[in-house]
Amino acid sequence: MKLLVLGTGAREHAIAWKLKQFSHEVYLHPGNSGTLKAGFPNLTPAISLKEIAIQAKEKNISLIVIGPETLLAEDYATHLRHEGFLVVGPGKEGAQLETSKLFSKEFMLRANVPTAKFIVHNDMNEFKNQLNQFPYPKVLKLEGLAAGKGVVIAKNEKQAMEFAENIWIHHLFGALPQRLIEEEFIAGVELSYLGLCDGKTFIALSSSTDFKRVFDHDEGPNTGGMGAISPSPYLNVELEAKIDQTIVGPILETLQREKLDFKGVLYIGIMIDKNQNPFVLEFNTRFGDPETQSLMIRMESDLLPALIATAKKELSSALPLKWKKETAIYVVAASKGYPENPKTGDLIQGLELNCSETEIFFAGVRSQNSDLITSGGRVLGIGALGADSSKAREKAYRRLKQISWPGMHYRTDIGISK
Ligand code: AMP
Ligand code: GLY
Repeated sequence: MKLLVLGTGAREHAIAWKLKQFSHEVYLHPGNSGTLKAGFPNLTPAISLKEIAIQAKEKNISLIVIGPETLLAEDYATHLRHEGFLVVGPGKEGAQLETSKLFSKEFMLRANVPTAKFIVHNDMNEFKNQLNQFPYPKVLKLEGLAAGKGVVIAKNEKQAMEFAENIWIHHLFGALPQRLIEEEFIAGVELSYLGLCDGKTFIALSSSTDFKRVFDHDEGPNTGGMGAISPSPYLNVELEAKIDQTIVGPILETLQREKLDFKGVLYIGIMIDKNQNPFVLEFNTRFGDPETQSLMIRMESDLLPALIATAKKELSSALPLKWKKETAIYVVAASKGYPENPKTGDLIQGLELNCSETEIFFAGVRSQNSDLITSGGRVLGIGALGADSSKAREKAYRRLKQISWPGMHYRTDIGISK
């Protein structure tokens, strides 16, 4: 079966790499110059959804995996299903679990899954009038998609007001009406619990934890993710049973009761508090980035049968996925100035060196003559497997030291537990 993975980044590279290991023919569109060099053809560049469908049919592609949330928000999944493809990714309705924080919080309430208490503000006046509902620190979340920039943990009133002013006075997130969700802060450790989900069945994709802040020891601004470890050091059998019972079960019941069609990846972002109780922070309706890179490195089974079963709503009869016993680490290397103001156009050196013990996945790169140069904030990442996290870390960081460009930076503590 021929497949198409839609997206530009390292997440899509990792999914395509995993599928290719089992000899499946994979297109990656639009991909990037690194994924092209790695042997994943794209379609003709800069094409519309309609053209994607035409070209995919010409190439006899049967199954399409949608990577980024922006495409899900544009309802690519429904359109491509209507064109007759098997699609992994929810339609616009199901994607609201990610694209609207309010929709997802209200869904969580109806499903009765544990989550932080919240209130909604519609404008600056409401915000000022209700400012003292929760103690500091508290969490402020812009209602819609904001590419990782829509969440602030306000330590005091000044920081809370600053964020509100950026929304409603300086219109940093656009001029349209904006809603803000204010949440109680839950202290703890984070777990990314991803699973293939067809609305009736959820098959966990092992577990992982990502490292969101730009600098070591969780300092600096939030990013799209600076690295990940799988399995998550914070998950154990007891906790997983609790998650299945109090979170996954109720979600599936609610999806069915409300007839919300969902065929894709459900990413449940979980905070585990000091009493080992899980709280849902957010849903994403796609593979996480960079969690997926660490998961694909650890996955032993062929991913394709599970993807087909998801797209056909037949997950209940799919075989269980097998995972390597080792630990996988994935470290992102970013360009100078990331996340605020990434510098691009720098020559990447050291890619040709031997790397049999690691995998490289490309994101923000493009070709210049026969070289690759940086073209985005998160440039590439290195993944490695080891008997434990320190062995995996040794390998990944050994490889990273061979690669360079001016201003390249990465966290040195990926995989170290809190
Ligand atoms: P979200 O986009 O909702 O996952 O939020 C981004 C990040 O903000 C999460 O990964 C957490 O690190 C943090 N966060 C979100 N909600 C809360 C909360 N209620 N309590 C503590 N931290 C949170
Ligand atoms: N790693 C967080 C995300 O994919 O949204």
